[in-house]
Amino acid sequence: MSQNLSPNPTYDVIILGASGFTGKCVIREALKFLNVPSSPLKNLAIAGRNTSKLSQALQWASRPNLPPHIPILTADTTDPSSLRYLASQTKIILNCVGPFRLYAEPVVEACADSGCDYLDICGEPEFMERMEVMYHEKAVEMGSLIVSACGFDSVPAELGLMFNSRQWLPPAVPNRVEAYISLESDKRIVVNFGTYESAVLGVANMGKLQELRRSRRRRRRPVIPGTSPKGAMVNHLKEVGLWGVTLPSADATVVRRTLSCLAEDPRGLPGVNESAEQVKRREAFWSSIKPAHFGMKIASKSLLGVVRFIIVGKIIGLFSKSGVGRWLLLNFPSVFSLGFFRKKGPTEDEVASATFKMWFVGQGFSDGSLVSQGNRKPDVQIITRVMGPEIGNLTTPIILVQCALILLKERDSLPRGGVFPPGIVFGPTDLQDRLQQNGISFDVISKKTV
Ligand SMILES: NC(=O)c1ccc[n+]([C@@H]2O[C@H](COP(=O)([O-])OP(=O)(O)OC[C@H]3O[C@@H](n4cnc5c(N)ncnc54)[C@H](OP(=O)(O)O)[C@@H]3O)[C@@H](O)[C@H]2O)c1
Repeated sequence: MSQNLSPNPTYDVIILGASGFTGKCVIREALKFLNVPSSPLKNLAIAGRNTSKLSQALQWASRPNLPPHIPILTADTTDPSSLRYLASQTKIILNCVGPFRLYAEPVVEACADSGCDYLDICGEPEFMERMEVMYHEKAVEMGSLIVSACGFDSVPAELGLMFNSRQWLPPAVPNRVEAYISLESDKRIVVNFGTYESAVLGVANMGKLQELRRSRRRRRRPVIPGTSPKGAMVNHLKEVGLWGVTLPSADATVVRRTLSCLAEDPRGLPGVNESAEQVKRREAFWSSIKPAHFGMKIASKSLLGVVRFIIVGKIIGLFSKSGVGRWLLLNFPSVFSLGFFRKKGPTEDEVASATFKMWFVGQGFSDGSLVSQGNRKPDVQIITRVMGPEIGNLTTPIILVQCALILLKERDSLPRGGVFPPGIVFGPTDLQDRLQQNGISFDVISKKTV
């Protein structure tokens, strides 16, 4: 494991923020793998600022069984010594305390300083990019692997793009991939308040992200065959009967960071202590990934559904600019989001009946070598799909826990340390297989000449 931890930390994993909506679902998911013979997860602890809420969360997560004997640790993100203690006791912290821009920097700092690994479920680009600027060097030095966005934001987008990319067999190459997210349910679709709060603060602080990007060194850009696409904000995807509108989620920025890492290191990131076989596998994997322009859309079966998304987006964009507006948004989430977000989150029935489908529509060229000859238009379309259960309470915990299990099992084949997006770290691992075994599927839908 990491280089500067004690050789045998007490815990494999500590779940921080385990009393939250998502945190308690992460406990439930982790318990499925605790002390199972083939699982590397042998010692688990949960942490947060309120021990009685943590104990209730553990009881909820263990149902219908009695809660197992799992240590409950007190830690508050406003108390750095409590975070340093956590980081000294474990191989990995799974951070579920958000909004990340408000609370998570001290946790990253404690992990980077101690060499403990850190995974989170952040979907906030400004936080992720700021952590990279501030803690990458330290994390490399101390052997701490810091990977944000290990949830629905942004692993389906990262692995889904790679899955689509691998369907382009030479000499075919993609030029662009557009992902359409469709949330489905026979009940009402409701998303957790924590995600809404993070989105409101993200929009309010958009200027800080631009400032950060202007102030830092430009990353290398991938070389993509063909010209940049100029897509419409709203469009109809007739192949799957969906309308889509551009979604300014973190996914596209996270995917771009992975593609930039790949442009800088085309063979991927070397592991701490890889075998020759593992090096070969990693290099073969990355040589099969062809960069493409990437964008996200939120989709609906009806144009009216898309109009609803646009109205909510406009309301959040407008109101989050002022203090009063943010107060209104955060105090009356259901009103201002037309029912998408609710303070109490979705009910258990609503969670159970919700699913997501993410359609990846790739457009490209049947022969990459001919692209430079004149102004050729894409002549091939490949559609793939990632599909799974409800996004915040089911898919996100599945992804986070599988990423943690990979760290526990294969730490030697992963980078020694640094702050990275999930795709560049987990792309060449068996994460996609693991997600498939846990209810998240990857399918090829169609390949055709257009
Ligand atoms: N990537 C994704 O797709 C995805 C999916 C789901 C959620 N998320 C993100 O995850 C975050 C949490 O969402 P949620 O719905 O679970 O929110 P939540 O229910 O409000 O939970 C927040 C958790 O953070 C804890 N906390 C707050 N301040 C703290 C502090 N100073 N020190 C220690 N713990 C503190 C809370 O503890 P108390 O119980 O003591 O208040 C609670 O356990 C949000 O940022 C959300 O955007 C991302």
